[in-house]
Amino acid sequence: MSTVYVTRRAHFNAAHRLHNPAKSHAWNQAAFGKCNNPNWHGHNYLLEVTVAGTPEPSTGFVLDLGELKQLIQEHVVDHLDHKNLNVDVTFMAGVIPSTENLVIAIWHILAPHIPAGRLHRIRLFETERNYAEYFGPTHDQ
Ligand code: NI
Repeated sequence: MSTVYVTRRAHFNAAHRLHNPAKSHAWNQAAFGKCNNPNWHGHNYLLEVTVAGTPEPSTGFVLDLGELKQLIQEHVVDHLDHKNLNVDVTFMAGVIPSTENLVIAIWHILAPHIPAGRLHRIRLFETERNYAEYFGPTHDQ
């Protein structure tokens, strides 16, 4: 069996503030710097969703990428795009909206909906140079 990794990209724009309310102002400034700005700041996020599987003989596809596009739009992008991650997004409530915490949340939202194959990786670019990846709870130590 040949395992192939298929990726769909999506974009969204969102605002956030990195802030730990349990810590002091000085601690937050030291830990988060400009990202602790009380009046928020924005990012143009690039999301990559990778599904692993074997091409289905009748189509040659691991899964229908049009269907994956729709699932990402409905379950992730529609909830995040043009939103404030600290206050608007139910599944990020009470969580510091770092790229790391976002990839974990997006994994758990999408994993149950993947129609064929299995979710392999969530990769999220916060900037062109900074990104985080999550390979799912089976890869947690
Ligand atoms: Ni930021």
